[in-house]
Amino acid sequence: MKNKIKIGLIGLGTVGSGVYKTLQNFDNIEIVKIAVHNKKKKRNIENLDENIITDNAYEVVNDPDIQIVAELIGGTEPAFDLIKTAIKNGKHIVTANKELLAKHGEELFNFAQEHNKVILYEAAIAGGIPLIMPIKTILAGNKINKIKAILNGTTNYILTKMDVLGESYNDVLVEAQDLGYAETNPTGDVEGFDAAYKITTLATIAFGKRIKLENVYREGITKIHPEDMKAANEMGYKIKLIASAELDEEGNADVRVHPMLVPKSKTLAHIDYVTNAVTLSGHPVGEITLSGPGAGEFPTASSVVGDILAIVSEIDKTDYILPMMRCNHNEIAKMIDISETKNKYYLSIKAKNKMGVIGKIGTACCSKRAQRRLCPNNGNY
Ligand code: HSE
Repeated sequence: MKNKIKIGLIGLGTVGSGVYKTLQNFDNIEIVKIAVHNKKKKRNIENLDENIITDNAYEVVNDPDIQIVAELIGGTEPAFDLIKTAIKNGKHIVTANKELLAKHGEELFNFAQEHNKVILYEAAIAGGIPLIMPIKTILAGNKINKIKAILNGTTNYILTKMDVLGESYNDVLVEAQDLGYAETNPTGDVEGFDAAYKITTLATIAFGKRIKLENVYREGITKIHPEDMKAANEMGYKIKLIASAELDEEGNADVRVHPMLVPKSKTLAHIDYVTNAVTLSGHPVGEITLSGPGAGEFPTASSVVGDILAIVSEIDKTDYILPMMRCNHNEIAKMIDISETKNKYYLSIKAKNKMGVIGKIGTACCSKRAQRRLCPNNGNY
């Protein structure tokens, strides 16, 4: 039997546990060290060797035997420094860290390239749905110019419940927190940060131009009311938090996350609860939609393990691993500011039921001041 490829895990939470359990099925791979936050925490993992557990993640990235580090802790620090240290020490990286990639992807990918190492990140965008690998391989012959996606399970769960039960945002949020879908501090999900991180990296890969997170318009779901859901249904739409990226003919990118009215004729209108989905439009393929579990222990582990196996299959066979999977998009996309875009709007107005109201609303909407102030909340899909 050949030498086993040695893996180090940073993080043994939901995703880390799924990765650990799944990797037990591969006898060419050995997990030799795992960094955790709290060594005393009880874990639901059979036959876990306590001797390989450390609470110092630098023991993983500095271990000379480890060839691949899987970073599964999330957040920017210490993940950023740990990954750079691991790369400097000659390790390939697999990560599920969408925030880190959106904020520091350019620097990290360039750093990996300089050290002839790869960073793979299939799990960072839409959990278990294969997206990055297909875009970089079998879809490589396409010019992708449009992405419409549901990339956040928590908000999709809340919107679905509001739609089905007619309940308020606040009531459904409490329920989602009780079920463990929404965090105690749900801001990252409900205000659209999580989806913005994901679409930033996804659009960069799909368009082959680097998208800057600070140019991505973002708005969450907290201002949606059950009456909006009802009105949308009556008009033939569903309200969804859509992560959208479009490239115009001059190559300018319009990337944003906000609630949109999705026609019921579109697949995304029927993606419910915690499921994620991504519709890509490109030439020559046309329009394709991939959907599946965007989070969770085993779906996310599926993507992390797939990335690990992709690297394992190349180690010792070539000096330049996975050229297709490298990310050297140095061209920065020219972005269109949201204020320069034209959108259709759904406006919900509460007014007294008396003569002249409709006329006054019409006049108000036509004023130049009103047109300047309209924001794209509920912009049409
Ligand atoms: N908070 C994320 C979601 C988890 O709700 O989709 C997966 O990234």
